[in-house]
Amino acid sequence: MSKYLIRGQKKLSGNIQVGGAKNASLPLLCATLLAPGEYLFSNVPDLKDVEVLINLLRHLGLKIEKNGQNFYRIINEGIKTVEAPYELVKPMRASFLVMGPLLGSEKRAKVSLPGGCAIGARPVNFHLNGFENLGAKITIDHGFVVAETRELNGSTIELPFPTVTGTENLMMAAVKANGRTIIKNAAREPEIVDLGDLLNKMGALITGLGTEEIQIEGVSDLHSTNHTVIPDRIEAGTFLVLSALSGGEVIVQGVRKDHLQVFLEKLETAGFFCESIAGGLRLVKKNSENYSVHINTEPYPGFPTDVQPQTVVLLTQVMGQHILTENIFENRFMYIQELNRLGAEIGLQEKTAIISGSKKLIGAEVTATDLRAGAALVLAGLVAENTTIINEIEHIERGYEDLVGRLRSLGADIEKIM
Ligand code: EPZ
Repeated sequence: MSKYLIRGQKKLSGNIQVGGAKNASLPLLCATLLAPGEYLFSNVPDLKDVEVLINLLRHLGLKIEKNGQNFYRIINEGIKTVEAPYELVKPMRASFLVMGPLLGSEKRAKVSLPGGCAIGARPVNFHLNGFENLGAKITIDHGFVVAETRELNGSTIELPFPTVTGTENLMMAAVKANGRTIIKNAAREPEIVDLGDLLNKMGALITGLGTEEIQIEGVSDLHSTNHTVIPDRIEAGTFLVLSALSGGEVIVQGVRKDHLQVFLEKLETAGFFCESIAGGLRLVKKNSENYSVHINTEPYPGFPTDVQPQTVVLLTQVMGQHILTENIFENRFMYIQELNRLGAEIGLQEKTAIISGSKKLIGAEVTATDLRAGAALVLAGLVAENTTIINEIEHIERGYEDLVGRLRSLGADIEKIM
């Protein structure tokens, strides 16, 4: 298990470029199962999660070439199998996103049930109920979900919660259904809009993207196309927290500010204002009064759960008492104990963290529990005195391309040790 070793409190400055969105790339690549032909994708992040999905898509029959950094050529000459085996789904639960397009194109899919993960049980019942609404027969057979139907028929699907991958999976099945599908209480994330844009370029007829009601007119044929992945708003949020911690000396390039509106509004209540400079964005603290920041994580466009851990690290450095409630996942505070071992003072009451600000952090050995928690520990290590060692960094490298290289280019003293 490799580790990061960070010697904190180095002066950081310079530009850091945001990469393509991990959580857009995954459904976009799955959509190539829906139509034959050649697809060219650019701005695909070079991540372990993408690599795992590429292997699964190859297993299903697609020919995939990686042409240089962040560029993929995918050729769909027909699906060889509709079975996604456990060993290919287990490493990355979002592989379950092949279910919708396989159902859409082949009217049959057999995909290993994704497990939970550190942050929660993460069931897929809303996905399965939606597939049944479209006419699929769903059975659970030895840990596999088997979905099959003679044809898919458009239907109105009322989601109990605006599930992101659930909305994506159902969109990719409904585009090939007979008639109209309406997804109510649909997720509104930019990644949903990016997938819908790709599907419409492929010949789908989708409207309402980015709203809570998506309409899909089923079509019989779709075709291949080319696509550029949107910037990763969660990586951007992570680096904007770094910018705030660096006193604004770090400038984040390639951010879609409109994807981070509520996040930026909340950081303003902590005294950090977003400034455009040199073609990028930075966060600068305007004054040093006491603050009392209250944050609730919510589905988009609310405050994103995926920048919750990183924001808590920032709040440990802001004078005052702050409250953050995690409403999306049941277990997304495991990193808090690790931060407290670095000298933070954060109390936990069920879904709420109470953060005491302006705490000096002192380096120690800590362990990453999941992707975003790991990113938060890196930020904490950069701020802390002395040396911080972060274990189980595999979690972090799933979602951040060349993090060490990019941080070192800003002057950070961080290295990967085995
Ligand atoms: C997506 O996960 C993201 N992953 C997550 O990012 C992100 O945190 C999450 O959306 C919320 O924004 C990808 O896009 C690959 P959900 P997803 O379905 O789709 C419950 C990261 O760090 N639920 O919106 O799995 C579920 O338990 C990852 O990049 C059901 O109960 O999230 C959770 O409490 C972490 N039944 C809530 O809804 C279902 O069928 C939100 O889940 C589906 C979801």
